Amino acid sequence: MGLADAEPNVSVFDDAESLARAAAERFAELARESVAERGLFTVALSGGSTPRRIYELLAGEGLRGSVDWRGVHVFFGDERMVPPDSAESNYRMASEALLSKVEIPPENVHRIEGVGDAAANASAYESEMRVLFGDAGWPRLDLVLLGMGDDGHTASLFPGTAALNEQSLWVAPNWVEKLGAWRVTLTAPVINAARHVIFLITGAGKAERLREVLKGERDPARLPSQLIRPSDGTLEWFVDRAAASKL
Ligand code: 6PG
Repeated sequence: MGLADAEPNVSVFDDAESLARAAAERFAELARESVAERGLFTVALSGGSTPRRIYELLAGEGLRGSVDWRGVHVFFGDERMVPPDSAESNYRMASEALLSKVEIPPENVHRIEGVGDAAANASAYESEMRVLFGDAGWPRLDLVLLGMGDDGHTASLFPGTAALNEQSLWVAPNWVEKLGAWRVTLTAPVINAARHVIFLITGAGKAERLREVLKGERDPARLPSQLIRPSDGTLEWFVDRAAASKL
C-alpha cells in the first residue's frame, strides 16, 4: 500500500468555531516555522464561506502578533470572474477578514485578476507566481488551504471540467457549465507540490460527499477533491462533527 492509499489524516472538531480556532493556530504555527527556516511563508488561501472565521481569528489579538507578516506571501487557490470589490470576490473576503488587519506588505498579496479574460488572467497569475518560485518544476507552496463544495469540487476544480486534466499549467482558466461562468484556479499538480495541504469542511450538507471522497471508489472526474494527494507533503482534513457524521 502506497502512502497515497494510507488512512486519511482526519481531525474532527465539535463545531465550526473550534475547527476555525485549530486551523488558525495551525496556520500561524506553519507560518512561524517557515519564516524561521526559509525566511518566508507562502500560502494559498481558499475562498468560499468556511475560511472567513479562520482569517478573522488570525487577524485577532491572540494570533496576529505571533506571525511575522513581512515574511508572508499570500496567494489564492482560485478566483471568480468578478471585480475585487464584489461580494463574490475571494480576494475581497480575505482582504476584509485578514489582509487589511495585519502588517503584510501590499506587494506580498498576490491577487488573481477577476476582470477581463480568464485565460489571460490565469497566465498573468502564473507569471506572477514564477517571479517568486522560479521556473524549475512545480512551485512549492508552504501551505494550501482548500474547501470542498457539496459537489466534491475544490478550489475551482469542478466535476467534469477541463482543468482537472491539466498537467502543465500552474494556473488554469476553467469554464464551469453549471455556474455558466469562468473561474481561474490553481491546478492539481501545483496543489500536490505543496508542503502542507489542509481541507476545511463543515456542515451536515457535506457529510455524504465527504464520505464518498474519502471512502468511496476513486473517481476524480466526478469527485475532484480526490485529485489532491501531495507528492511530498502532508494532507490534513479539518472536519466538524456534522460533516464527519458519515465517515
Ligand atoms: C470558491 C472556493 C471553493 C470553496 C468551496 C467550499 O471560490 O468557491 O475556493 O472551492 O472552497 O466551494 O466553499 P464553502 O466553504 O463556502 O462551502
